[in-house]
Amino acid sequence: MNSEMEKLYQAIEKAHTIVFFGGAGVSTESGIPDFRSVDGLYNQQYDYPPETILSHSFFLRHTDEFYRFYRAKMLALDAQPNAAHKKLAQWETAGKLNAVVTQNIDGLHQKAGSRKVLELHGSVLRNTCMDCGKKHDVTAISESKGLPRCECGGLIKPDVVLYEESLDNDVMDEAIRCIREADMMIIGGTSLAVYPAAGLIHYFRGNTLALINRDETPLDSRADIVVHGKIGEVFSQMP
Ligand code: APR
Repeated sequence: MNSEMEKLYQAIEKAHTIVFFGGAGVSTESGIPDFRSVDGLYNQQYDYPPETILSHSFFLRHTDEFYRFYRAKMLALDAQPNAAHKKLAQWETAGKLNAVVTQNIDGLHQKAGSRKVLELHGSVLRNTCMDCGKKHDVTAISESKGLPRCECGGLIKPDVVLYEESLDNDVMDEAIRCIREADMMIIGGTSLAVYPAAGLIHYFRGNTLALINRDETPLDSRADIVVHGKIGEVFSQMP
């Protein structure tokens, strides 16, 4: 185990209130591509850039095209939690971790057993009728074709934060509260490229900031511990 891994191991052993902040890189070892890596979603060819398709205005103007892309690329319903998700759930059960703050919408943290999961960008598992407000589970979209319709005839929209949409204030406030009270913050599997999510890190006031990411991030120089590697593999070697 190299020195950074050793430092990470010791810090986790000592910590009592860890908060985890993660992104798409936490789910790649579950077979879900991330966004900005070379093989990521945003580097594949489509008629429009994926960041355009996953926007509020595109959803309203090209709803059919949105759902074709969304069903093909955003629903990974067979994906299973990997070692990273499982370790975080274990730390929460052991009383070492107070919350997972995630940018992911795949629900894998909850599938692994995590209970306190703050989903900054929502979840594909929650969907709402734009007319009557009725809640629908993901099968209303995954098991339908064309425009998913509610019994009332209204269009069903995923509870996922699209570009041009704002994040849920209550979720943000709770994420900030958990980050503020943490004695250790572990950031993993995120390029820290998207705000306001990436800005949350600046609320951390605790002892140790650890960063586990395959590639470099803008925050590497600010972290006390930096491990460049696959987060599932790294967590497998942690207490
Ligand atoms: N282990 C560790 N890091 C990994 C792994 C892995 N197995 N796989 C990928 N990574 C790293 C990549 O090196 C990359 O830096 O995870 C990061 C993923 O970055 P992005 O693809 O930009 O994903 P993310 O940071 O979650 O994007 C944030 O952008 O488009 C929006 O809403 C979308 O939530 C998303 C947000």
